[in-house]
Amino acid sequence: MAGGFVGGDVGKRAEFYEGRITSYFILACVVGSLGGSLFGYDLGVSSGVTSMDEFLKEFFPSVYRRKQEHLRETDYCKYDNQILTLFTSSLYFAGLVSTFGASLVTRKYGRRISIMTGSVSFFCGGVVNAAAVNIPMLIVGRILLGVGIGFGNQAVPLYLSEIAPPKIRGAVNQLFQLTTCLGILIADIVNYFTEKIHPWGWRLSLGLAVVPATLIFVGGIFLPETPNSLVEQGRLEEARRVLEKVRGTHKVDAEFEDLRDASEAARAVKNPFRNLLKRGNRPQLIIGALGIPAFQQLSGQNSILFYAPVIFQSLGFGSGAALYSSIITGSMLVIGALVSMCVVDRLGRRFLFIEGGIQMIVSIVIVAVTLALKFGHGETLSKGVAVLLVVMICLFVAAFGWSWGPLGWLVPSEIFPLEMRSAGQSVVVCVNLFFTAAIAQCFLAALCHLRYGVFILFAGLISIMSIFIILLLPETKQVPIEEISQLFEKHWYWKRIVGKDSKVESQKP
Ligand code: BGC
Repeated sequence: MAGGFVGGDVGKRAEFYEGRITSYFILACVVGSLGGSLFGYDLGVSSGVTSMDEFLKEFFPSVYRRKQEHLRETDYCKYDNQILTLFTSSLYFAGLVSTFGASLVTRKYGRRISIMTGSVSFFCGGVVNAAAVNIPMLIVGRILLGVGIGFGNQAVPLYLSEIAPPKIRGAVNQLFQLTTCLGILIADIVNYFTEKIHPWGWRLSLGLAVVPATLIFVGGIFLPETPNSLVEQGRLEEARRVLEKVRGTHKVDAEFEDLRDASEAARAVKNPFRNLLKRGNRPQLIIGALGIPAFQQLSGQNSILFYAPVIFQSLGFGSGAALYSSIITGSMLVIGALVSMCVVDRLGRRFLFIEGGIQMIVSIVIVAVTLALKFGHGETLSKGVAVLLVVMICLFVAAFGWSWGPLGWLVPSEIFPLEMRSAGQSVVVCVNLFFTAAIAQCFLAALCHLRYGVFILFAGLISIMSIFIILLLPETKQVPIEEISQLFEKHWYWKRIVGKDSKVESQKP
């Protein structure tokens, strides 16, 4: 297993790396990071479309009837429909299975082919969904979109990290989160306008998924494969040519040699998935592969995004106002991602995780208390209370946007040792999408039964995950990527598990 996020700080020769930011590199970043927009566009579009009357009338008439009956009521339960939720989560189940196929394609044929495969599947999904006349067509469309996301989320973070010069790898990696959030925001804006087009506006929202897919496919034709992947495939001359072009210099000997060494070392490991289970890699397994991706979703962020319009309608806002509200939350996410890109290498990962966690807990508790006092008695909320709720939801989303959102992808990518980085990334995508789907499937039922208590539940989970970070994650800011495993050997808890012996054992092929 070779490749992975080989960047400059492979160690030995990092100080001799040369290069500048070339237009070819920028093109690669723009096209590569567009992969995140597929993910984001879908997240944003689903939440808007599932609150559009004509969409509900056509596919989920019982939900529509319930919505009409309760139009004047503020009811926690009116959207609780497992089939409607299955429409949303079928995509994530497809994504979590296909990401393992993507891992194979990414390794054998390259990151670029995976990204392009993802865009083709996403394109087909967009077309089938826009033309859907029954629920099976809707679900098939969602599955195709899901395969697109399984491939995209597997390959794009890898692609960005490999193509980036080492010094700015963190910020470049976070382009994925930025384009995800831009995708959500654009989808929110699209929904805002298509909602006014009767009776087929929802088809336009779903069908416009073909736009980012086409851009990525066409861009992909011109996209360079990463030098790492070319080395991995044994295409050494081509790898060197691409490296020179991306870095804008012929003096790439040091970086190229590191790349070859890293690739050799990684190839010695026969089964990267099994390697992940060895005792010496326990911190990476617990923190990177399982903890962070699961907790990112258990924060409840996507419940708020998927169903922001539903929540706002349940709060007594009209349908248009609901979509308008989700445009506000989408903007918060973009701002959060930009803030994170600017400060993550200075303030550090732990600071952002902890600050973000506290802000999320405080704002969601205020949401819960407000709902407990003012909501569920069948009255529309007063303007002041509604504004307070919107502001608190925005503070929650912004905090996620600069903490668990981007770090949920960045930190796992930097703590896996090279030999299992690509396999690790598949597990990250799988766990992340599993929890995305599980939360989507459970949230509306939980809202219906636990009422405002569901937000207290999320506050409890965010407290647990913040403690997890405080106790178990060492600070990785500015630590060369290949030295990160040494942090665990000095860590107060992990040093007991990652002893010298287990380290030797885990490095055996
Ligand atoms: C998460 C998504 C989330 C998005 C925006 C990403 O990092 O993985 O689940 O919807 O951020 O909040």
